[in-house]
Parts: sequence; structure tokens; C-alpha cells
Amino acid sequence: MVEPDQPSTARMIDFWLGGTHHYPVDVAAAHAFEQAYGPCAPVFRALRAFLGRAVRAIAATGVDSFLVFGAGVPTMGNVHQVAPEATVLYTDVDPVTIRLGQRLLAGSDRAGYGYGDATDIGTIDPALLHRFVPGWGRRPVGVVFLGLAAFLDDETLARTLDELYRASAVGSHLAIDFDTEELAGHPEALAMMGPAFRMRTPAAFAPLLGRWTPTSEGIVAVTHWRPDGAPEQVPDAFHGAVAVRSAG
Ligand SMILES: C[S@@+](CC[C@H](N)C(=O)[O-])C[C@H]1O[C@@H](n2cnc3c(N)ncnc32)[C@H](O)[C@@H]1O
Repeated sequence: MVEPDQPSTARMIDFWLGGTHHYPVDVAAAHAFEQAYGPCAPVFRALRAFLGRAVRAIAATGVDSFLVFGAGVPTMGNVHQVAPEATVLYTDVDPVTIRLGQRLLAGSDRAGYGYGDATDIGTIDPALLHRFVPGWGRRPVGVVFLGLAAFLDDETLARTLDELYRASAVGSHLAIDFDTEELAGHPEALAMMGPAFRMRTPAAFAPLLGRWTPTSEGIVAVTHWRPDGAPEQVPDAFHGAVAVRSAG
């Protein structure tokens, strides 16, 4: 695979999680970000642990297929690894990440990787959707939307979540996170995130969920969503929720 000359946030996260699917350009960007912010590995480990708890909780409701948006690198405790009985379709818009994901999942008959713009679910290859998320729209599924809200403005995020609500069957679950205002205290790091980056308060995020109804935990720091024991002590950088598609 040709080595990319631009870093990707997805592969930087793989670096912080201790994975092996990133390039020198990603490591350089990760180090530069840490110079401006501080250690990131504990924060992303806590976020990946939230993914694990959320996906296991969704699978425990009987859901056996997952559609993942802005999926990044499909390793290090990712969806098919924490729900090995389920089928999983990972999607992203970044061609390098998609090729990497396809290579990593090449031997799997339960998990696949393809192009998908979260803001337009019609961009997903119907054959892949049919294969890995069978009964999409008719059977409850898990929709995983992590690390993505920060890159969508309010209007786009609300419209996208509403489109997913309408397209998914009753009983479907959404796992979602958003960036808090943590980086406001680190202007140099904030500038590195680019002009499209959005930080939100829980009060500002809640209405964007539209008809998706959060579980009783509500919208909380990801470390506080059904923690296994005492919540990890990490900076409060990400909040999240698991929300349900009820009737109507
Ligand atoms: C911060 S990374 C998160 C990766 C992964 N979800 C995680 O939590 O480790 C954001 C990912 O979203 C992808 N992305 C950005 N805009 C997108 C869009 N409109 N639809 C789908 N993916 C998108 C990027 O290519 C990148 O891989």
C-alpha cells in the first residue's frame, strides 16, 4: 500500500490505542497534537472502552448486526471484536482508511468495509449493506456513530441522525459521542483540529438527537456510561449516549 503523505485522525487514534496500522506521518501528527494538549492515549482508551460497553449492551438487546459510520481502523477492540457473533459493516469516506480496513478484514465472513458518507446513507453499496446488515430497515440494528459528530455542523448532524432514524427499524440502537469543550482550554490543539471541528455542551447536543431516545443513563461523559466498576479518571473530552429508535 502506498504510504500516505497526510495524517488521518483515524490512524492517529490507532497509534494512541497501541495499534500497528498507522504511518510515520500519523505518529508525527499525534506527537505534535500531544505537545499542544497533553497525553491522548488514556482519553482514546476510555472512548474505545465506551464503544465496547455500548456495543455489548446493544447486542444484549438481541441486535445481531451493526452499521458503523466514520469507522476508522477496524482493530483494537472494535465492533466485530467485542460482538463476535454479530455481522458488521464498517464505512468511512477516506480512501486510505477504507483500503486499510478492507485489507484487515479480507478473511472475515462476518465483517466488511466499504465507502459510506454518513450524511448520505444512499452512498453505501447496497450489496455490502445486504450482506453485512441483513434486513436493514426491517430488523433492529446497531448504528455506531463515534468520532464523527465533531466534524458535522448542527444542521447536517440533525438531518443525518433523522435520516438514520427514518431508515432504521424500530428497536434499532444508536451509539454516538461528541466532543466537549475540553479543547477550548488548549487553543493550539484546537487550531490543529481545523475550522470544521465542533465542540458541544450536552444541552446543545441533546436536541440534535431528534427522535432518538437516550437510554436511562442519558447523555454523559463516556467514562460514566454504564462503567465496569469505578469510571476511569481521564480528561472529560467526550460525552456520549446510546439511544433507541422507538415506534413512530
Ligand atoms: C476521528 S476519526 C474516528 C474513527 C473511529 N470512529 C474511532 O472512533 O476511532 C473520524 C473518521 O470519520 C471519517 N469521516 C469524516 N467525515 C465523514 C463522513 N461524512 N462520513 C463518513 N465518515 C466520515 C474520517 O475519514 C475518519 O476516519
